[in-house]
Amino acid sequence: MSMEKMLWEYKGFCFPPGVTKETLDALPSFQVRDDDIVVASFPKTGTNWLFEIVAKILRAAGKTDSSADSLISPGPMEIKLLTGTRPGYLMLADMPSPRLVITHLPIHLAPKGISKPQNKVKVLVPMRNPKDTAVSLYHFHNKLIKLKGVTDNVSWEEFARNFTRKVPFGPFDEHILGWWQMRDDPHFLFLKYEDMKKDLLSAVKNIVAFLEVDLDESTIKGIAEASTFTNMKPDLDNSKLAERQAVARKGIIGDWKNIFTPEQSKAFDTWYEEKFAGTGITFDFE
Ligand code: A3P
Repeated sequence: MSMEKMLWEYKGFCFPPGVTKETLDALPSFQVRDDDIVVASFPKTGTNWLFEIVAKILRAAGKTDSSADSLISPGPMEIKLLTGTRPGYLMLADMPSPRLVITHLPIHLAPKGISKPQNKVKVLVPMRNPKDTAVSLYHFHNKLIKLKGVTDNVSWEEFARNFTRKVPFGPFDEHILGWWQMRDDPHFLFLKYEDMKKDLLSAVKNIVAFLEVDLDESTIKGIAEASTFTNMKPDLDNSKLAERQAVARKGIIGDWKNIFTPEQSKAFDTWYEEKFAGTGITFDFE
């Protein structure tokens, strides 16, 4: 089935079938706790990577002794995982603090405690260039539909054509620009995938400072070392969650060059220029 046909619309955004209207109606009033740490992302921009780093920091700081896999077990708050019986937000309600919360919601549909955080709530927002995000989502989508027993893959041709207009949790530009409005709010930390790839140690230092935990230099270095793609992949591959096992694919910048045709690349460039020029957001594509 085409991806477009699987999606449904809610207040101007597109959602996969694992997200229901009932959930979206309920989430604005979801009870956020003062010590929640949130990763608010467009899918495939580095959500699991950030989550792992935050979990490692909290463990090193003695704030939790749970594994990343058990902290992440509810999955994104708006989704019911393949093996789950309830959407993430209902499972989160039963989790002990400090909770690590993931959401792919656009800002205006997110819980108020995340879109307008108070007190100590921390929100990390990863961002990634849209060409690599599209390629990553394309491969992930096809892996997931296979897990669901659907046999006909979506073609890259069709996926690339739809990405800029009809994509899960999109439109991409509106999703990114919505959260980007919070760039000067101290409850938020924006991190670009490409910057993290180029200098992971600085990114980890930034996150440690943002979370206001005290860790020595060698612990921070150890966390950065353990969070490279090669060192993290085995943890993701061995996760109990099927969705997480499908996450660690290539982990590089510029994989889009292996699949985009010159025409597709040009169409993305025109769209990117139109949507992001003058917004203050610039992405590295290599
Ligand atoms: P690719 O499909 O391009 O390999 P998300 O966690 O938001 O679903 O994002 C998944 C993307 O992040 C995948 O991209 C995955 O490989 C990449 N990723 C996961 N862990 C990573 C790491 N430690 N370093 C770099 N990229 C990582």
